[in-house]
Amino acid sequence: MNGVKVYLQFLKDTVGIEYMKGTGDIDNEEKESLQELRKEVERCKRCPLFRTRTHIVFGEGNEDAEIMFVGEAPGREEDLSGKPFIGRAGKLMDGIFEKIGLRRKDIYIANCIKCRPPENRNPKPEELLMCLPYLEKQVEIIKPKIIICLGKFAAQQLTGSALPISVLRGRTMKYREVTAIPTFHPAYLLRNPHAADSFKEDLIKAMKMV
Ligand code: URA
Repeated sequence: MNGVKVYLQFLKDTVGIEYMKGTGDIDNEEKESLQELRKEVERCKRCPLFRTRTHIVFGEGNEDAEIMFVGEAPGREEDLSGKPFIGRAGKLMDGIFEKIGLRRKDIYIANCIKCRPPENRNPKPEELLMCLPYLEKQVEIIKPKIIICLGKFAAQQLTGSALPISVLRGRTMKYREVTAIPTFHPAYLLRNPHAADSFKEDLIKAMKMV
């Protein structure tokens, strides 16, 4: 049994919760494409967030990207459009991309969670866990050289560390064989503009590595 199955069994045995399985089960075939995976996520009912989503936000960009960005979860605008980082935080990130010569068409952007948590609350541990296999599969298919982890949830989810982003930021870490660079979430930069220089520095470091 893999980790997700053990957790599902645990929930069923201890609190009687049985998450919807079936349509959301992960297809373990090696050669699965992003398009096929997207279709699975569209049918996903692995956690209750499927009830409140307008669209899944699967991720988008260059499927051969060397640099992959991983955010937290869709916000309102992303839920309405199905596209990642198109709200205020995404626009701020686009502005920084432009300054350093990074283009969205060269990178891939995904999130830890594919459905919007209501009222933009933080993702719950069980939601992160249920959605993790989709992110893992995306990384397996895209095979990036570097993953930029945007904020605490992506950094902790991918590096396995429980340390806060203020501590992880500036380190070069690993997600399996892939270099993982934890940095601030663009929404944090909206509230803390002084952190934009560190964010920029992290992106430039990644660009130099590929
Ligand atoms: N914040 C995220 O983490 N992801 C998005 O797609 C939008 C906002």
